[in-house]
Amino acid sequence: MSAKERTLVLIKPDGVQRGLIGDILSRFERCGLKVIGMKMAYADEKLAGDHYIADEDWLDTVGEKARKAYEQRGAKVERKNREIGLEIREQLIKYLVMSPVVAFVLEGHNAVKHVRKIVGATSPGDAAPGTIRGDYSFDSYALADKSKRPIQNLIHASGEVDEAEREINLWFTDKELHSWQRTDEALLYRKG
Ligand SMILES: Nc1ncnc2c1ncn2[C@@H]1O[C@H](COP(=O)(O)OP(=O)(O)O)[C@@H](O)[C@H]1O
Ligand SMILES: [Mg+2]
Repeated sequence: MSAKERTLVLIKPDGVQRGLIGDILSRFERCGLKVIGMKMAYADEKLAGDHYIADEDWLDTVGEKARKAYEQRGAKVERKNREIGLEIREQLIKYLVMSPVVAFVLEGHNAVKHVRKIVGATSPGDAAPGTIRGDYSFDSYALADKSKRPIQNLIHASGEVDEAEREINLWFTDKELHSWQRTDEALLYRKG
């Protein structure tokens, strides 16, 4: 049985700077997901650091993904995952505070997983066509690494339900989230 979930999306500085706010938002709206909160925000380093919290699992996962990408390019990596993860986190904080972001909360059944599917793989170069990252960018691990910057993949979306709740509370107060009905919900949730 699917569950009604909420998830956080950020249109990152590259998405805002490239004028893609409307296109990105419409991808989620058109599939039936409901926007229950939305704002433009200019994050400071504290907010960016709290968003990309130095959680040990996250550092390890990000470091491991980076290691695999290095190894695929034939590079030998001596550094530990955690160390690579910490370096990427520093780059990410700088990237997130570069210019305003647009933050919104989406609600719907299995929203967390569904949004990740629409967003696509972390590296736009690997993301499938039809996903936001695959359609609007071809950035890659190699390109990002060469410029010592994070992958510019237009968008952040929470990876798990508990991550989503933590992130929503970071970017929005309860008063900024709204309960309302989309007209298509009557069709979606009608009794047979
Ligand atoms: N190896 C890497 N090199 C550069 N940037 C990276 C790397 N791994 C992740 N990033 C950046 O860090 C962000 C957070 O990483 P992660 O949570 O693993 O990806 P996702 O955004 O797909 O959930 C990514 O969206 C991307 O901008
Ligand atoms: Mg993530």
